[in-house]
Amino acid sequence: MSESHVEASFSHVPVMLTEVVSAAKNMEDGLFLDATLGGAGHSRAVLESNGGLKLIGIDQDEEAIATASTRLSSFNSRVEIVKANFSQVLEVLAGRPLVGYLFDLGVSSYQLDTAERGFAYRFSGPLDMRMDISAELSAADVVNGYSESELRAVISDYSDEKFAGRIARAIVEARPVLSTDQLAEIVIAAIPHAARRKGGNPAKRTFQAIRIEVNDELDILAESILAATNALQEGGKGLVITYHSGEDRIVKSVFSALSMSTDPPGLPKPVDIPSFKKSSPQVIRPSEAELTSNSRSQSARLRVIERVAA
Ligand SMILES: C[S@@+](CC[C@H](N)C(=O)[O-])C[C@H]1O[C@@H](n2cnc3c(N)ncnc32)[C@H](O)[C@@H]1O
Repeated sequence: MSESHVEASFSHVPVMLTEVVSAAKNMEDGLFLDATLGGAGHSRAVLESNGGLKLIGIDQDEEAIATASTRLSSFNSRVEIVKANFSQVLEVLAGRPLVGYLFDLGVSSYQLDTAERGFAYRFSGPLDMRMDISAELSAADVVNGYSESELRAVISDYSDEKFAGRIARAIVEARPVLSTDQLAEIVIAAIPHAARRKGGNPAKRTFQAIRIEVNDELDILAESILAATNALQEGGKGLVITYHSGEDRIVKSVFSALSMSTDPPGLPKPVDIPSFKKSSPQVIRPSEAELTSNSRSQSARLRVIERVAA
C-alpha cells in the first residue's frame, strides 16, 4: 500500500482524549513524549492544546510512522518522529528532560482492522501480528512452533483464558495453522458450548495473548515506563492508558514503587522523600459518553504520575 493510501485509511479514535488534553494544556513549555504515536490523534490534540510544547513521537510500526508524519507535518519543527520500540526511550531522548509523556498501549484500530496485518479473528489474514514488520517472531512461529505447554502458558498468562489447556491441545493437533480465520475456528471449537456465549467473541482472548507474546508487550513495559518517568522534570506528568489487567498491574506497581515513601514505619522523620506522586483517583476510567460512543474505550484505564519537588 502506498504511504498516502495508508494515511487515508488509517482510522483510530483516540481514547480518553479529553483527559490527556486537560493534562497537556497545563504543562510547562518543554518536550512531550508520545511513546505510542499510532495515527497521531493524541499527539495532534496535545500540540494544539499547548503552543509551548514540542513533541517527540515513537512507534515501532512503519505504517503508523508514515501516517503520523503526514498528519503532524503542519507543526514543522515542533515535532520529531522516530521509528523505534519504546524500550529504546532512553536512547531516543538522549538525556533530554520531559514535561510530560503518554503511553497509549496495545494496538491501533487500523492495525486490528487491516486483515493483512494478521491481528484480527474477524478476518481472514496471514498469522502475523507483528507491530514491527521487521521483527523476527510472527504469530505463525508461535502457533506452529511452540510446544503445547509453551502455548498453554502464553494463552493462560496473557489472557486469563480458562480453557488455555484445551485450546493449546487443539492448536497442536490442527497444525499447520495457516490463517487467522483458521486459528479462530480452532479456538472457538475448543471452548465448551456453554462458555462460548459469554463475553464477546470467544477467540478474542487467545488472539490477544498471542499478540502480546509476538510483540513481547509485557516484558519491556516496566523498564520503559520507569525510564520515561525518570526523564520527567520537576512538575512533569506521565500518563499511561492500559487495556487489560496484565498491563495495568505492571503500571500500577511501577507507579507505586516510585511514589512509595521508604520511611521505616514508626520512625519520626522521613528517611527518603519520594519525588513522585500518583494522581488521585489512582485509576481514571473513560466517561459514560465515551464508553457509549467508542467501544474500544471499554477496557481503558488511565494512570498518572507526577514528579514533585524532592
Ligand atoms: C493504541 S495505539 C496508539 C494510538 C494513538 N494514541 C492515536 O491517538 O492514534 C498504540 C500504538 O503503539 C504502538 N506500539 C505498541 N507497543 C509499542 C512499542 N513497544 N514500541 C513502540 N510502539 C509501540 C503500536 O504500533 C500502535 O501504533
